[in-house]
Amino acid sequence: MPQSRIRRYLKHGTLPQLSVFEAVVRLGSFTRAAEELHMAQPTVSVQIKKLTETAGVPLLEQIGKRIHVTEPGRALLTACTEIFQALTKIEDRFASIRALESGRLRLAVSTTGSYFASRMLAAFGHQHPGVDVALQIHQRQTLLARLADNADDLYIFSTPPRDGEVVVQQIMPNPLVVFARADHPLAGQRGISLERLAREPFLIREPGSGTRAAAQEVFAQRSLRPNLRMELSSNEAIKQAILAGLGVSILSRYTLGLDSDQKQLVTLDVVGFPLERHWYFVYPVGKNLPAAAQAFMVFTRRRAKELAHEGRLEAVN
Ligand code: PGA
Repeated sequence: MPQSRIRRYLKHGTLPQLSVFEAVVRLGSFTRAAEELHMAQPTVSVQIKKLTETAGVPLLEQIGKRIHVTEPGRALLTACTEIFQALTKIEDRFASIRALESGRLRLAVSTTGSYFASRMLAAFGHQHPGVDVALQIHQRQTLLARLADNADDLYIFSTPPRDGEVVVQQIMPNPLVVFARADHPLAGQRGISLERLAREPFLIREPGSGTRAAAQEVFAQRSLRPNLRMELSSNEAIKQAILAGLGVSILSRYTLGLDSDQKQLVTLDVVGFPLERHWYFVYPVGKNLPAAAQAFMVFTRRRAKELAHEGRLEAVN
């Protein structure tokens, strides 16, 4: 909207002047308007004088003791009502967003984060039915690009970006475990060495995946190389490949998802596992987090704490 024609109304003080003008017209008196607005009467006069100068036309006239509104003044009064109605409407909207009766939360998570984040978001949405919630699930590289573009309200990573101006807040543990098919020869064995695991056909996530990086790191720290059998770009595909007998893999325990009673997948007791990792909320420095995002962060951390206290963190699955 070009604003050059209304520039002189955009200066500081026009809104208070309009509010004084409206009160004077409604009450028909400078004195009563001053009383209502808790102002000194000369202040009211000055405000009306300034508004009249801005308008460049007479707005009020005093005949005897009575204040009358002029024809242009009546037009300004109509505009005043519209402006105040618009502000009231926007304030109602803001109030409902602040009270979480409306508003929006666009959460974006990595593929691995989707298992617990969708459950948390559903529980949050249930508590705040007026909030419009949406969940984006992406591979980590895409998620990083979206974060750089400020495309969503809030992000969940297990491997938060190291570079870039981001705020990182820990949520809860994300243990990585070694999954194998229930009939795997190592299933049920105790204290399996990493060297022994490295000889097993290994299924690994795509480049860029946080889970992949963690798996590679655990072998590299011991100067080992896994016996790579296949690269797959999702946790679900890896689980299917394990079930098909193609190998074993290191994945987040949360990837069991709703199949936590899945009997065909077992975790191997490898020394050093589960790997201790965490989930993190991430957002760009300087981001004005929407009220719904702030509330979701509080909700999720509280829920995670309760579950950890009860010893059932996997219950978010
Ligand atoms: P993923 O894990 O990229 O392997 O899905 C998430 C993360 O580490 O952020």
